[in-house]
Amino acid sequence: MQENNTELKPIILSGIQPSGQIHIGHLTGAIRNWVDLQDKYKCYYTIVDLHAITVRQEPAELRRRTLDLAAMFIACGVDPDKCTLFIQSHVPEHAQLAWVLNTFTGMGECSRMTQFKDKSEQHEDNINVGLFTYPVLMASDILLYQADLVPVGEDQKQHLELSRNLAHRFNHYYSDTFKVPNPFIPQVGARIMSLQEPTKKMSKSDENEKGSIFLTDSTEQIISKVKRAVTDSGSEVRYDIVNKPGIANLMSLYQIATGFSYKQIESDFDGLGYGEFKPKVAKAVADYIAPIRESYLSLRKDETKLKEILTKGAENARKQAFKTLRKVYKKIGFVQF
Ligand code: TRP
Repeated sequence: MQENNTELKPIILSGIQPSGQIHIGHLTGAIRNWVDLQDKYKCYYTIVDLHAITVRQEPAELRRRTLDLAAMFIACGVDPDKCTLFIQSHVPEHAQLAWVLNTFTGMGECSRMTQFKDKSEQHEDNINVGLFTYPVLMASDILLYQADLVPVGEDQKQHLELSRNLAHRFNHYYSDTFKVPNPFIPQVGARIMSLQEPTKKMSKSDENEKGSIFLTDSTEQIISKVKRAVTDSGSEVRYDIVNKPGIANLMSLYQIATGFSYKQIESDFDGLGYGEFKPKVAKAVADYIAPIRESYLSLRKDETKLKEILTKGAENARKQAFKTLRKVYKKIGFVQF
């Protein structure tokens, strides 16, 4: 972490769960944002393994996926010299502050969380208390670092609202302790849809692997998946999500890979059909992913180095986390250790 000037920058905290394989849709979502923000803000990025265990995880798999995700973020341009990248469980203060915040959270507040309701339905066999207080742990992630801004999608807005309420409540009960975080609504790129069912979001849990382009796919795999992508009737390359969801999706992919605007793509393929367009998209996407995959594979191979990077990140994160937690403990009336 470079110390020069970073103190003046607004603080951002973001977290991502280590679940599933990483696909190209993640690039337009979390990954790109993380990369774009790291120059302008003081960023803390964490892989939230503590959150992940609110649903049962296979241990070896969880370990592997946590490191996979870290390597992939770095491969995509998240720079550990510019931001603080760490694994949540490496910073024990997250769990410690979460406990304190639990005592400030009403049962009703947690019961109203729509994600809790959804997840309880999905995991009826394991509705654990951790799942219930999941948003409190998330508040702890955010408040520990005195974050000004938290990039959130629609699905996390309610959780961020709880973080704000908890910060207010604690500050009001004792005295100013936490910064009250604001949502940061990032510019969203196009939603990337399944190649096989272009009206459904590309998803890591899609049963049909042909629907998703994973960032670890080989050039051959990518080319074959794009060439077999479902397209729409007609033959004109035109951006029309409603009537041509398949082609619109391929245009989004092409746009990510080349940076060309939809207008430009339309004019480049004016008079040409899907037959000319698809191989171009396939090649462009494959060429775009190749260096990411290579970089990922080389980072992932050297686990010692990867863990070193994450250890440094955690050490850096702990400095701030410890400061906040010490303040909190003091205000509560714990005898100082
Ligand atoms: N709950 C978030 C999600 O499922 C992940 C998360 C955990 C997070 N802690 C966070 C996101 C803190 C932003 C800030 O997507």
